[in-house]
Amino acid sequence: MDKFVIEGGAPLHGVIPTSGSKNSALPALAAALLTEDKVVLKRVPRVRDIRTMERLLTDIGSYITVEGERVTLETPVIVSPEAPYELVKTMRASSLVLGPLVARAGRARVSLPGGCAIGARPINQHLSGLELLGAKISQEHGYVEAVAAGGLKGTRIVFDRITVTGTEDILMAAVLAEGETIIENAAREPEVVDLSNLLIKMGAKIEGAGTSVIRIEGVAKLRGAEHEIIADRIEAGTYVIAAAITGGDVTITGCVADHLGALTVKLAKAGVRVVQPDETTLHVLPGSVIHAVDMSTEEYPGFATDLQAQYMALMTQADGISIVKETIFENRFMHAQELMRMGANIRLEGREAIVAGRSRLSGAGVIASDLRASASLVLAALVAKGETVIDRVYHIDRGYENIEGKLAAVGANIRRVE
Ligand code: EPU
Repeated sequence: MDKFVIEGGAPLHGVIPTSGSKNSALPALAAALLTEDKVVLKRVPRVRDIRTMERLLTDIGSYITVEGERVTLETPVIVSPEAPYELVKTMRASSLVLGPLVARAGRARVSLPGGCAIGARPINQHLSGLELLGAKISQEHGYVEAVAAGGLKGTRIVFDRITVTGTEDILMAAVLAEGETIIENAAREPEVVDLSNLLIKMGAKIEGAGTSVIRIEGVAKLRGAEHEIIADRIEAGTYVIAAAITGGDVTITGCVADHLGALTVKLAKAGVRVVQPDETTLHVLPGSVIHAVDMSTEEYPGFATDLQAQYMALMTQADGISIVKETIFENRFMHAQELMRMGANIRLEGREAIVAGRSRLSGAGVIASDLRASASLVLAALVAKGETVIDRVYHIDRGYENIEGKLAAVGANIRRVE
C-alpha cells in the first residue's frame, strides 16, 4: 500500500493547474448509458473513482477508449443492467447508473451501498424519485431492483433533503420519461449544471439546472455528444488552502473562480489574500496572518463539505478559536483525531469541532480515512515540523490527480513510497 512522506516547512511558490472535476465526470460517464451513440468526454481526471466507473460501465455494455483525459464511450446495447457489490462498496457513486439504466433498459439492479466512513449515506431519495416516475422498486439480498417495463412517466418530485447524486440520478431518468418531470428542492451544485449541459447536447429538454426547481420534458431518444468536464472546484480549493497554510505564493489556473466563492469569502475574513486575475485563475498572495473564523458547511452555493477537512487543517494555524460545523454528513470528522496526533488542539462536540490555534504541528505517522480527510492531512503535513508519513493514500488517489506531483512542482517536499 502506498504512503506519502512529507517534510513540512516549505512555503509553496508557483502555478498549480486544476484537473477536470471527478464529481462531474462520474455522472457524465453514467449519462453515456442513455444513448447507443458515441459520447466523447474531455478533461476527465485520471483518478481511481473514474477507473471504477469505467469498469462498471464496461460490464454493463459500454465500449470505452481512454486517450489521456479524453474518454469515448459507446453503448450499443445494455448487456447487464447491474452494479455489483464489489464495485459499489468501493464507490458509492456507482448508484448513478440506476437512473440511466431504468430509463434506457427498463430495469436496473444495484447493490445497496453499506455504511461509509463519513456517514450513513442512504439512497432512499433516489429510489423514491424513481418510484414516483413509475418504477417498481424491490429489495433482496442487499440489492435493489428498479423495473419500469412500460417506460417511465413524468411526474413531480420534491426531495426531502437536498441530494447531489440523487438529483443527477433522477435527472438522467427523467430525460427519457414520457411527459414533464419537475424536480423540487434539487441540488444546485455546478456538477448538476454540467450534467444538464451534457444531457442538453444529447438532445434532452431541461430548464432550471443550477436552481432548486428543474423542469424536464422527456424525449423519446438521446443522441451522442462531445463535452468538456468543468474544473474540479474541490481540488482547486484544496490547493488554495495549501497555499494559504504554508504562507506561499501560488496561482491556481484552469479553475472556475465563481464556484469557489464561499471559500474565498471565508478566507478573506480569515486574512488570507486571494485575488482573482481572471475568471479561471486564483492567486494566493504570501505573508498573511491567519485569523480564526467559524465555518458551517452548506449545500452549494454554501461552503462545501468536501472542503471542511482542509479548512479545519487551516484553522489549526489560525490565531484564535474557530468552530467548524458539519451539517451535511453525520460523521465527517475522522481527520480531527489524526490532526490532534500532529499536535492540533481540537475538541469535538457532536457536529461541531472547536479548533484552538495556533498549534505548532509536528510530523507523525497518520492514517488517511477518506478522500478529503486525507487531503487535510497532506495540508497539515506541509506546515508540520519534521516528517509526516500518511498511510492508506489510496483514499486520496480516488479523487486527486497526481497530488504529489502538483505539490512537488510548487516546492513541497512530498514523495510517494510503496
Ligand atoms: N441523503 C439521504 N438520502 C439519499 C441521498 C442523500 O439521506 O437518498 C443524505 C446523505 O446521507 C447526506 C446528505 O443527504 O447526509 C447529502 O448527500 P448527497 O446525496 O448530496 O451526497 P452524494 O450525492 O452521495 C455528493 C458527492 C460527495 C459530496 C456530497 C455533498 C459525488 C460523486 N459525491 O455525494 O463527494 O460530499 O455530494 O456535496 O458527487 C467527495 O468527493 O469526497 C464526496 C464525498
